[in-house]
Amino acid sequence: MDSKKYWEGKHLEWITKDWIDKPTIFAQFALKYFPKKGKLLELGAGQGQDSRFFARKGYGVTATDFSDNALRLLEEKIIKEKVNIKIEKVDLSNNLPHKGNSFDVVYSHLALHYFDSKITRHIFEEINRILKKGGVLAALFNSMDDPEVKEFEKLEEGFYMSSSGITKRYFTVDSAKTFIQGIFDPIVLDSHGETYKDKINTLIRFIGKKV
Ligand SMILES: C[S@@+](CC[C@H](N)C(=O)[O-])C[C@H]1O[C@@H](n2cnc3c(N)ncnc32)[C@H](O)[C@@H]1O
Repeated sequence: MDSKKYWEGKHLEWITKDWIDKPTIFAQFALKYFPKKGKLLELGAGQGQDSRFFARKGYGVTATDFSDNALRLLEEKIIKEKVNIKIEKVDLSNNLPHKGNSFDVVYSHLALHYFDSKITRHIFEEINRILKKGGVLAALFNSMDDPEVKEFEKLEEGFYMSSSGITKRYFTVDSAKTFIQGIFDPIVLDSHGETYKDKINTLIRFIGKKV
């Protein structure tokens, strides 16, 4: 299946889930590593439970995703909740449409891990480009410990295709290092990430500063 179509469907399926409007465990954890104020960009924000959380904490938030359903639902929620968030449609497999040195924080919850190693490397470089010096990247990734990996077809090291044709990258702490080395100084890099939604509690957490 085309990945865009897959995500359009998922966002409709998630409307009724109890976790969909709750700030994630990772967002609440990551907040203490952010500068006290500034501009924050969320990549793959989905329906924006974390973008809305950060906006309520006083950050100037831009929320992005490539799913029209996600962005429409997010827009309805920010109008209803009267939070101020800029919404942009951004496909992570392209260059980011933002100026260099323009954000204090780039944040992504389970959205930077759908790409082959070339595109993944490019995404990290693009994030590095748009962050201000000393700016913070906070991201949560799939883990190689996830039992679903065994059911999927391996395309390259750490990169798999599901039976529905969706590609997914699974990280380890060591493989995450290969993408960030030289461009980010790690503050947190471990496998203690968890969500309200999934059973797994060994997701890869990365929080680091632009070198
Ligand atoms: C697992 S969901 C996470 C959504 C949200 N951050 C959350 O935690 O609820 C992955 C998100 O990545 C988005 N996504 C997938 N591929 C993308 C791409 N190429 N460009 C931008 N967003 C993408 C999907 O639409 C989806 O919202």
